[in-house]
Parts: sequence; C-alpha cells; structure tokens
Amino acid sequence: MKNVLVIGSTGQIGSELTMKIRRMIPEGNVVAGYIKGAEPKGELLESGPAAEADVCNGEQLLEVVKKYDIDTIYNLAALLSAVAERKPQLAWHIQIDGLMNILEIARDNHCAVFTPSSIGSFGPETPRKDTPQDTIQRPRSMYGCTKVATELLSDYYFHKYGVDTRSVRFPGLISNVTLPGGGTTDYAVEIYYAAVKGEEFVCPIAPGTFMDMMYMPDALKAAVDIMNADPSRLIHRNSFNIASMSFDPEILKAKITEHIPGFKMRYEVDPVRQAIAESWPDKMDDSCARAEWDWKPSYDLEGMTVDMIDALRKKLL
Ligand code: SER
Repeated sequence: MKNVLVIGSTGQIGSELTMKIRRMIPEGNVVAGYIKGAEPKGELLESGPAAEADVCNGEQLLEVVKKYDIDTIYNLAALLSAVAERKPQLAWHIQIDGLMNILEIARDNHCAVFTPSSIGSFGPETPRKDTPQDTIQRPRSMYGCTKVATELLSDYYFHKYGVDTRSVRFPGLISNVTLPGGGTTDYAVEIYYAAVKGEEFVCPIAPGTFMDMMYMPDALKAAVDIMNADPSRLIHRNSFNIASMSFDPEILKAKITEHIPGFKMRYEVDPVRQAIAESWPDKMDDSCARAEWDWKPSYDLEGMTVDMIDALRKKLL
C-alpha cells in the first residue's frame, strides 16, 4: 500500500480513514476521492491530493488511478440501508455498477481493492446469535442485496483474475467526527449527540433489538489491517465478520446514563428501520478474522462511551 485512492473520502468512514492512511504512509499519495457536492474541506483537503472520483464514471476513475499510480483502492461509496430502501435503483447503480467499474480498473492496473460489506448482508434466515462466517445470508433489504453481490463479485474477481480484493462486514459504526446518513444503526451515534447536548433522544429502534456495533478507531484498524494481512494466511476474502460489541437501545441508554445522569430517551419506532434491524444478526462470530489476520478490537461499550462523551463535549459544548 503506497499510493491509495479513497473513494467516498468525505463520508463517515472515508473522512477518518483517509487521514489515518496519510499518517501511516506520508511518502505516498493518498488521494481523497469525492463527488460533486461532497468536496473535501479543511485538514482533509490540505493534507494531501484530492480528486473527483465518481464510482459511476469509469473514465474519471481510470484517470485518477493512472495519474497517481494508485495501487490500493478503498471503495467506500454507498447508500446506507434506509436510504437504499427509498432509492433501490440508485443504490444498485452506485454499489454494483460502480464496483464493476472499480474491479475492471483494478484488474488492468494491478490495484488491491477494499469494498466493505456489512451486518446488512444478512437476512431473517441467518442464525442471529454468533452468526457464523459462512452461513445463509439472503438479505431482504436492497442494501443487503448489494452487499451480498459485492462480496460475490469481489471474490469472483479474485478467483478469476487474481485481483487482490479483501473486505470486512462492518457492524454499525459509531464515531464523533462525521455523521452517518440514512443507516439503520445511526441511532447509536445520534443518541450520544443528544445526550451530550442535554436533549431527550427519540429512538427509532425498539427496545430489545440487538445489533453489532463498533467504535470507529477499531473499524479503521480493521480496514487497514485486512489490506496489510499476509495473503498466504487468508482462507476467506470477501468478507470477514468482525465484531466488538452488541447492544440494544436500553443497554446503550443505561450506559450513557452512568456518565450523564438524567439523560432521557423515548421511543418512536420507525417501521422501515425496525424491520431491517430485526433481519440483522444480534452478534457475529468473528473467529475467522481473529485466526486469519489477528483481528482484535480495542473498544468495548464502556471504553467507547467514555471516549465519545469526552470528544463530543469538546466538539459541541
Ligand atoms: N450502518 C449501516 C446501516 O445501518 C449498516 O452497515 O445501514
């Protein structure tokens, strides 16, 4: 990994991942790829090259890959689950037609490719507890359909053409830097913002709904470590279950209340997001990631909560 293109560099994951990789390889070109209307600003813009890189525009992507001699592509362009339900054709276009553009360019230009999958790649028939690495997926959401197709296409390009594709199934990601947009797990980010601002939180997910979640520093570490892993140890490629914590809204609220007494929450369940959440695992088994590339998270719910509250106090108050 020397010259890296991060597609979606201004999004929830990209904004932090681009900066992390720039710090890791200061001698390389780490290009912040963006689309019109989501241009990088501030530190992201000033600390390295930036280029328009729309996944749906293969010619534009190829130009960037050639100009910066890119060897690794992080493909983070996606519509999250709730938005994808409203715009299924657009979700497919970005997530799958866009991926095909990237994989073809990677094949011709010898790039490694990371395209995240998700807990959203699972469905109602998936075993919910300790969800195995290799199991029935059959998601019912469009987001999930695109993620299963992403896993299959990425593996196809590896087996057929030798493209070095690797990825992880991200849990819901919680960060204090850039907000997610339109996901089912977004509540677990928004709740911290409300708590720190002293506001009541209106929760769109019902009590008792467990989902895997992860603090962003662990997610970034996973995205880097999988691409740096020794390929001879990898039995799997697209995509590895990774896990660090699982909770429902009640457990999260109780944990935040330990640090912000008096925090209030009520429920207004959103049927679309609730149905999606109920079809996802309660907790994934990540033993393959641990065995094949030494995956190990650093944050549990307590550690994340302390850090989130501290960071958001500095940012918001
Ligand atoms: N966080 C995503 C969502 O909720 C799932 O990967 O859509």
